[in-house]
Amino acid sequence: MDSPKPGLFHDITVASLRVPGNVWLAPMAGYSDAAFRAVCAKQGARLCFTEMASADALSRNNGTTLRLLEKSPEETLTGFQIFGSSPSIAAAAVRRITPLRPAIVDLNCGCSVPKVLKADCGALLLRNPALIGSIVSAMKAETDIPVSVKLRLGWEASSLTYLACAEAAVKAGASLVTLHPRTRAQGFGGTAQWNHLRTLKEACPVPVIGSGDLFSAQDCLRMISTTGCDGVMIARGCLGNPFIFAQAEALLRGLPAQTRIEPEERLSIAMAHLHMLAHSVGEDKACRDMRKHFVAYTKGLPGGSIVRQSVVNAARVDEYEEIVESYLRD
Ligand SMILES: Cc1cc2nc3c(=O)[nH]c(=O)nc-3n(C[C@H](O)[C@H](O)[C@H](O)COP(=O)(O)O)c2cc1C
Repeated sequence: MDSPKPGLFHDITVASLRVPGNVWLAPMAGYSDAAFRAVCAKQGARLCFTEMASADALSRNNGTTLRLLEKSPEETLTGFQIFGSSPSIAAAAVRRITPLRPAIVDLNCGCSVPKVLKADCGALLLRNPALIGSIVSAMKAETDIPVSVKLRLGWEASSLTYLACAEAAVKAGASLVTLHPRTRAQGFGGTAQWNHLRTLKEACPVPVIGSGDLFSAQDCLRMISTTGCDGVMIARGCLGNPFIFAQAEALLRGLPAQTRIEPEERLSIAMAHLHMLAHSVGEDKACRDMRKHFVAYTKGLPGGSIVRQSVVNAARVDEYEEIVESYLRD
């Protein structure tokens, strides 16, 4: 097991923005909505990203897409992520969202879902570093807010383009680069190749954030200490486990981390999450959306399957409350 090393927790300066810590929440479509971002912020995520939002839809003022970017009053720093492939449309999107005052605007250059690739966006940009440069440059021209890019290694193993993409983005004005060191072809398979984070960090003049296979506080410590990256962005590892942010911060500060989270605490955070979600999207949708989160919150809890089976039919917040109370009582 890695031992705590003080000094690895620190602020990150991103152009004009100072982020008071280097353990962040990654963008996750279908998960990183305002309620979950608020939960993560309260548990120690120092900057939280929205899921990717279509630049094209934003430029057309689409209400559903704009709602992805609505902030909760309980969030602190929120980064907005957009996806697109046209510099002029990305510029229009940035013009539309700048008044909403995100902390950062990030360009997605890694998503590999067919719908996004079909629109020439996401990971497809990895094949065209010059286009990444043009999009970043167009975004920069519209805003005083720092612009960043989130990359994968490349389209496939035979074309690792992340260094060229990062260079083009930084030349065009990007103030931060995040790398999930898998190729588009890898999806989420195999393991993230963290050695590329070190290579990027050595080449890149702006802060580098690492993403990929961060499932525990120890993983965050190991990524920062072995690659030299400036900070980490946690994705799957915080689903049902937002405690990972404070645990990672403690470990990076060289302090003992609270590793044992009692079922009462876990479920009380899950219920607070549900209340916030109901407040932002209404009770009906919240109860439906919360099921997947409850699956994650109850993973590994003794008898947790009982909760998971029960919430499938829960349509009201008080039904969730009853299920949780009965689980804790019995
Ligand atoms: C459900 C899900 C949704 C995701 N959505 C996005 C997204 O909208 N934008 C993005 O840049 N990355 C997205 N990602 C990738 C994550 O931000 C992260 O880079 C990746 O999951 C690797 O981190 P991990 O291994 O710690 O999960 C998503 C990942 C998951 C699991």
